[in-house]
Amino acid sequence: MATVSRRSEMAEATSSITIPVLLLGCGGVGRHLLHHIVACRDLHSKMGLVLRVVGVSDSRSLLLVDDVATTGFEDEFLTEIFRLKSSSGSSFSDLHDLGRCQLVKGAEVTTNIINVAGQLGKSTGLSVVDCTASPETVHILNKVIDFGCCIILANKKPLTCRIEDYDKLISNIRRIRFEATVGAGLPIIASITRVLGSGDPIYRIIGSLSDPRDDLSGMDVARKALILARLLGWRIDMDDIQVESLYPKELGPNSMSTEDFLRIGMLSLDRGIQERANAASSRNKVLRYVCVIKESRCQVGLQELPKDSPLGRLRGSDNVVEIYSRCYNKSPMVIQGAGAGNDTTAAGVLADIVDLQDLFH
Ligand SMILES: NC(=O)c1ccc[n+]([C@@H]2O[C@H](COP(=O)([O-])OP(=O)(O)OC[C@H]3O[C@@H](n4cnc5c(N)ncnc54)[C@H](OP(=O)(O)O)[C@@H]3O)[C@@H](O)[C@H]2O)c1
Repeated sequence: MATVSRRSEMAEATSSITIPVLLLGCGGVGRHLLHHIVACRDLHSKMGLVLRVVGVSDSRSLLLVDDVATTGFEDEFLTEIFRLKSSSGSSFSDLHDLGRCQLVKGAEVTTNIINVAGQLGKSTGLSVVDCTASPETVHILNKVIDFGCCIILANKKPLTCRIEDYDKLISNIRRIRFEATVGAGLPIIASITRVLGSGDPIYRIIGSLSDPRDDLSGMDVARKALILARLLGWRIDMDDIQVESLYPKELGPNSMSTEDFLRIGMLSLDRGIQERANAASSRNKVLRYVCVIKESRCQVGLQELPKDSPLGRLRGSDNVVEIYSRCYNKSPMVIQGAGAGNDTTAAGVLADIVDLQDLFH
């Protein structure tokens, strides 16, 4: 089976822009990204755009086309990867036919990624897309940007690491996109960037940015809050964020099994939260688990908010962000919609890759 196709065959229009893509992480989001890339071929072709996937990695190995300079995986092969990685515990070694590509393992994975970045970064350009949930990738990303590669992140961890690594990562702001790290496909980062770029100072952001059922400790929201605060220019770290966990230490994973937590712990939490919700209601307010970024403070926790505010009206699992600035003062800019899901998040990542097309040729 042929697993790669020549760039010239893929490009329909002579004036096409080709973006070579190297994907790190092929779980829920990563594999859906491959699916979307294949599904959007016709659309991208009409836009004069070709996404040429040259490599895909997971936690164990890296699949790489033999000739990264001219070839990319065929759509049939990308679809096979999508199917394979849809079963839990699967690895690229389970692929039946590797065709004209190689499977790299162990320490060789990082070396090969850096080599590809070195080869393509300054010639055709390369988009390195991080769809892992790993803090380790920041070292790779900080190397590949030196070769002029573009970086697209769904993974929040490289942006919430030490400020020195963060500074390096965003040192070429034109070459990095990270919309999917906050609110999946919602244009939260893009909207904030536009407001800031117009000279309109943002003085408060308040947002419900995850489903507390998935993030009772609040750490995921705290990472999103840190990304937004740093976007505003705040030089802070995770330790500077005040996080209210929805469970006390004695109900945490180190002290109680998940079964006991769901059976006993949750019930005790419900009582306390219900009392707080009732007290808020008596003041015509509602309780929301939000991040608040204002006046040099970045907080994550339960807040009482007016019932008739955008966040107060929130129902279900939507994300809602209210952005207050000089222009959006009494009436904030509000962004609302589904803020998670593999399909939606992968679409956000794809939109980021397409947004970088002018940097390729
Ligand atoms: N899903 C959402 O709704 C959503 C929304 C917004 C943002 N995100 C972010 O998107 C990222 C991906 O989420 P997900 O749901 O797809 O996670 P996931 O299903 O756990 O997939 C993570 C993938 O990364 C791979 N991986 C782990 N460590 C790696 C490493 N050091 N190098 C290369 N690959 C590595 C894993 O390999 P194996 O396959 O071998 O395990 C897996 O393929 C996360 O950072 C998440 O926070 C997700």
